[in-house]
Amino acid sequence: MTFSVFITRKIPEEGVHILKKVCQKVEVNPRDRPLTYDELLKEAKGRDAIITMLSDRIDARLMQEAANLKIVANYAVGYDNVDVKAATARGIVVTNTPGVLTDSTADMAWALLFSIARRIIEGDKLTRAGKFTGWAPMMLLGGDLVGKTLGIVGAGRIGTAMAMRSRGWNMRVLYMTQQSRNAVLEEMFGAQRVDLETLLRESDFISIHAPLSEKTRHLIGPHEFSLMKRTAYLINTGRGAVIDEVALVNALRNKQIAGAGLDVYEEEPKLKTGLTELDNVVLAPHLGSATVETRTKMALMAAENIIAVLNRQKPSNCVNPEVLT
Ligand code: DGY
Repeated sequence: MTFSVFITRKIPEEGVHILKKVCQKVEVNPRDRPLTYDELLKEAKGRDAIITMLSDRIDARLMQEAANLKIVANYAVGYDNVDVKAATARGIVVTNTPGVLTDSTADMAWALLFSIARRIIEGDKLTRAGKFTGWAPMMLLGGDLVGKTLGIVGAGRIGTAMAMRSRGWNMRVLYMTQQSRNAVLEEMFGAQRVDLETLLRESDFISIHAPLSEKTRHLIGPHEFSLMKRTAYLINTGRGAVIDEVALVNALRNKQIAGAGLDVYEEEPKLKTGLTELDNVVLAPHLGSATVETRTKMALMAAENIIAVLNRQKPSNCVNPEVLT
């Protein structure tokens, strides 16, 4: 049988290479930009498999028109861009890339946390602008980490890796999850499960790791900002829409919280008005998994999932396992 695969953005060659060994036709979007929905629709037609990015909307219409599609291999751990229900209804397997990006994403959350708490970006700007006129006792004072409280929202793999890293600063760890209790967090890292309100009231650093769903959309809005300490920092490396970004801009502008470190945004790549004008926020362009090692592992994982499905085997990372039965 001949298999046709389309990859919606250039990814590390290792993944493309193993696909080419099994599939007769493997094509990669040659443009240096995401495809428009219509382009995606056109490219998906007649394909057996596609590797999609978190910026690609994979909806019921697309899956209906791409009638040969057997698998959507999302090149991300989050898969809120894919209508999984519609895929399941059509017997299409949806896979993601869990595990391999846990450390790089937790590292990114810590990088943002340090950057905002120690005002590194402000310091960099000042130094480049030639405004560093010598050490000054009151210049760019930030906040300490040691002994502070870290609040983790969403207690999956990345939230757990976040807690693990906090041990170096002897932090108290609180967590909240809409899922079941995380025994590793509690037993290995002494984390305490609390409700969202307690977490927001007591944490000095709040890090978002919950997946985006109808339950978590705008989980952090005006009311939640009003509960946080004025000295608190909010970090988001999960999905932008878990935070109401307009409410965040207001909270930062009114100094309702001390600062934020963001890697993700509600309507990427657009940012809400006012965000870029604020000094008390560090903005990264969705780089959580952006290391050579991690992106290579993600490419291999997505390709292996496709190869398994095309060979009528069970893929390792299926998010709708009911289609396999
Ligand atoms: C993911 O995998 O969901 C990340 O957001 C990608 O960096």
